[in-house]
Amino acid sequence: MIVYFNGQFQELNEVKISPFDRGFLYADGVYEVIRTYYGKLFKYADHLERFKASLDAIKINYAETDLLEQNIYKLFELNKYTNPNISFYIQITRGVSFPRKHPFPSADVKPTVFISASTIENDEHAINKGIKAILEEDTRWTRCNIKSVSLLPAVLANQHAVEEGAEEAIMIRDGLLMEGSHTNFWGIKNGEVWTAPLSNLILPGITRTVILEICSYIGIRVNEQAIDKNDINNFDEFFISGTTTEVKPVTQIGADVIGSGVPGEITCRIYDAYLKYVESRNWF
Ligand code: PDD
Repeated sequence: MIVYFNGQFQELNEVKISPFDRGFLYADGVYEVIRTYYGKLFKYADHLERFKASLDAIKINYAETDLLEQNIYKLFELNKYTNPNISFYIQITRGVSFPRKHPFPSADVKPTVFISASTIENDEHAINKGIKAILEEDTRWTRCNIKSVSLLPAVLANQHAVEEGAEEAIMIRDGLLMEGSHTNFWGIKNGEVWTAPLSNLILPGITRTVILEICSYIGIRVNEQAIDKNDINNFDEFFISGTTTEVKPVTQIGADVIGSGVPGEITCRIYDAYLKYVESRNWF
């Protein structure tokens, strides 16, 4: 597998990263996950804007964001993938500095840039049957709108989900369901969709924005309001969303089966509309 690392395309096993990289020592970096459909990057401008916002938020000065798109496509080409559905992982850290010291290194230290590409396999089973999620106290920091590589609370929450036979952990802060460990979270009650509002407590998902547009287009009302954990039983359907997740029905939360345990009607309508939007190629 060929990856991009600090200006070079090279075999993964040839990449050399210093243990003094601040990404390794402090999780001092940010990332993006972007996917293709039909061989084209989906919503690239939105991902780039969010990536720049994350870099700005943690004060990493990386001047070459305009070159990322061509490097991503080059990586796609070099790996000779025949599958047109690829996800790209892009990470930028503050770079290497020695000795280990908390303050930022001098301005001449260059950020470390890494991009990898992997194929996405469709998870038909989850789409047709829905997935199980668990509820987990949100122990993340209060700047979840930054796509930071410091993901330990999300990793622990997701691992707990896996140990409970579930696929996602929904993070609860002050009694409210904010988002999944790596997805945005949605509920449907009386035909209306609910999802947490944008704030520093959730990631502004690119798929979230697409779904909001789709709901408006197909005439489904949306309340950008977080669901109270005591109100879960009054909801008819739930789903999660994300770049590689797309729209996935949640048919069980903890021990509670949602509705009749199959993907809900409105979730399926939104998913179908999402696929139609992708197929329309209007986002090219
Ligand atoms: N996760 N919320 C969180 C906490 C996320 O980590 C993600 C994405 C999302 C969905 O965002 P988007 O629709 O832009 O993919 C919401 C990525 C894919 C990951 O960490 O792998």
